[in-house]
Amino acid sequence: MYRTHNCGELRISDIGNNVKLSGWVQKIRNKGFLVWIDLRDRYGITQLIINSEKSSKEVIDSVKNVGREFVIQVEGEVIKREAINKNISTGEIEILVSKINVLNPSIIPPFTIEDETDGGEELRMKYRYLDLRRSVLKDNIIFRNDLTFEVRKYLKAQGFIDIETPYLIKSTPEGARDFIVPSRINSGEFYALPQSPQTFKQLLMVSGFDKYVQIVRCFRDEDLRADRQPEFTQIDCEMSFVDQEDVLNTFEGLIQSLFKSCIDFSLEKFDRISYKDAMEFYGSDKPDTRFDMKFLNLSEKAKGNDFKIFDSSESIYGFNIENGESFSRKEFDYYTDWVKRPQIGALGLIWIKHNQDGSVKSSIDKFYSADELKSITNSNPGDLTFIISGDKKKTLTQLGALRIHVAEKLGLRDKNKFKALWVTDFPMFEWDEDSKRYHAMHHPFTSPVDNRIEKDPGATLANAYDLVINGNEIGGGSIRIHDQKLQEEVFSILGFSKKEAFDQFGFLLNAFNYGAPPHGGIAFGLDRLAAVMKGEESIRDYIAFPKNNSGRDVMIDSPSSIDKDQLDDLNIKIK
Ligand code: AMO
Repeated sequence: MYRTHNCGELRISDIGNNVKLSGWVQKIRNKGFLVWIDLRDRYGITQLIINSEKSSKEVIDSVKNVGREFVIQVEGEVIKREAINKNISTGEIEILVSKINVLNPSIIPPFTIEDETDGGEELRMKYRYLDLRRSVLKDNIIFRNDLTFEVRKYLKAQGFIDIETPYLIKSTPEGARDFIVPSRINSGEFYALPQSPQTFKQLLMVSGFDKYVQIVRCFRDEDLRADRQPEFTQIDCEMSFVDQEDVLNTFEGLIQSLFKSCIDFSLEKFDRISYKDAMEFYGSDKPDTRFDMKFLNLSEKAKGNDFKIFDSSESIYGFNIENGESFSRKEFDYYTDWVKRPQIGALGLIWIKHNQDGSVKSSIDKFYSADELKSITNSNPGDLTFIISGDKKKTLTQLGALRIHVAEKLGLRDKNKFKALWVTDFPMFEWDEDSKRYHAMHHPFTSPVDNRIEKDPGATLANAYDLVINGNEIGGGSIRIHDQKLQEEVFSILGFSKKEAFDQFGFLLNAFNYGAPPHGGIAFGLDRLAAVMKGEESIRDYIAFPKNNSGRDVMIDSPSSIDKDQLDDLNIKIK
């Protein structure tokens, strides 16, 4: 038997017992006549003690050869610890070692495997299996496991059936590029890895499995960000005989239940906001509503005082910051430079300070009286107003980015607070200037409101919805088209000829001829959900083996070239 207990288990009530533990040596402190070892496993850390007066010569000799990250097995008595360590669960006891057995030595690890490590990001990615020994990462992975378990438990109780769908498929139009896999036995032909199981889950509805779920890996060849990985996991769901309200209610229940069971947080009933209002009031389709700072449309009010920048702008928007009176000139300069960076692209930033004593200071007080400024901004004493003007779409997005940045700086993005909302009524189509054609804003299988496309396709709204938590897009879904004619019409607006549509999606269009039920669904990003619940935005540390920013796995050194024989087998020549 390797162990009677794990390294996080022993307590004061175990004192006097003889136990066996196995684990990794995290730390050794040698005081000559006393040696302490921190023994670590997945469950925690237990302190071992070797005492030159009480331990055998054999133990004292073998401990001399033990180093960091050795895997050892020890036997000994649980004794009371003199200096209690309140930071660990086993902090009141230690093991007086009577036998030590080195199960496997370790070479010196490339970085210290402790909460505070000296290893840089890239080095830790290369030795990810060592990094995963650190409790920070280990706890994230265990949290993700708990979350997945709760998802399955909740949805099973609701009658959802877990069904796997293939990974080697034909391209799905989710908006990113596909990862492509060449077929050997069908020379010159390729599979695509699924960007999501979208078409399959719809086919399962045609098959009659009216509640489907799959916790499934998806693959998208797109630019990476903190919240994007080329392979990521969705909690992918679909239901038949439902309208939008049914879907939102079902999954609001799921998310509330996950927050309660996994982090003991009671999420309030989710707010709802239309896409149009989200853009108008927050400059984002994924607004962070933990704090206010809602936009004011000043486009009418602020014009007409000979201030050229405003008079010549299509739109003028601003927001008030409560208690912003204390902002200094240096801070104004900082935020002005911040919005002028190419990533944001604003031409400038106007500020108006409404002081507690009623006086007003502003970067535009040459053009407006104090009363005019107060009335334009509708501000209270103590408020600071930031304003950006220009092209409407750009202005809203720039101000949206500033709103988040200011909130971040002011500490308003509280990690322990969660606000969830549904963003609804997305436009069905988005016009793309480069390709001069419409794109589906969600995906081409999304149904238009009232199953009808407006004369101006750009004005058509979709039965599509996103779940946003703390400013992160956690999920997205829609009610689908289940009528072949309407599906063909949508493909035609998206620029597919009838032949192209049938070539690519004939399997789905044909299926709709055999009694497709009304259906709809949603997919949540599991990695994102886990990270956001833990108050983080980067999903990387919630994935055991993620890719770096260049899409590389530096541990296994992938992607890599393949040898000529393999290429020949596939009938492929590298250009
Ligand atoms: P969508 O494309 O909105 O919808 O994706 C659903 C959710 O998946 C997560 N997500 C990602 N997470 C990490 N890395 C990525 N690269 C990445 N891309 C997306 C997000 C997102 O909200 N088939 C539809 C769903 C449906 O209509 O039912 C779909 O895939 O959290």
